[in-house]
Amino acid sequence: MAIRNIRELGDEVLTKKCKPVTEMTSRNRELIEDMLETMYEAGGVGLAAPQVGVLKRIVVIDVTGEDPYILINPRIVESSGEQTGQEGCLSLPGKSGQVTRPNYVKAVALDVNMREYELEGTELLARAICHEVDHLDGHMYVEKVEGPLQDVTNEDEDA
Ligand code: NI
Repeated sequence: MAIRNIRELGDEVLTKKCKPVTEMTSRNRELIEDMLETMYEAGGVGLAAPQVGVLKRIVVIDVTGEDPYILINPRIVESSGEQTGQEGCLSLPGKSGQVTRPNYVKAVALDVNMREYELEGTELLARAICHEVDHLDGHMYVEKVEGPLQDVTNEDEDA
């Protein structure tokens, strides 16, 4: 396992649409392990593969610090409600901004064994799923931010 370099806003790789994963290779397993390690080391709650420079539809999320989800080729299939709150991103350290997201989402994804599963989330988990899926399509939360970006010292909820 290795910590990978997190790409920051302005890096072109963050604007690209990622490709679906078709098979679980040792290379992809290593990428996923590195993504988890990189996310934990950076104190984030989520990380998408393009944030480490890899254009594959892979996301890791852990909003509690002890319950990691790996989402391969994730799709949001249901969403409802609304939440408005501060959002941050490991690709834009030290900043946060107000973003409105669904309060509930259901995603369908593949796990590390390429088996399909459903992940339902509310509040922070729902926000993280939306934020990470956006990364896979080359979008960052700054495109959705309401009002100015703020400086933050606590980056605990960056994704
Ligand atoms: Ni992010």
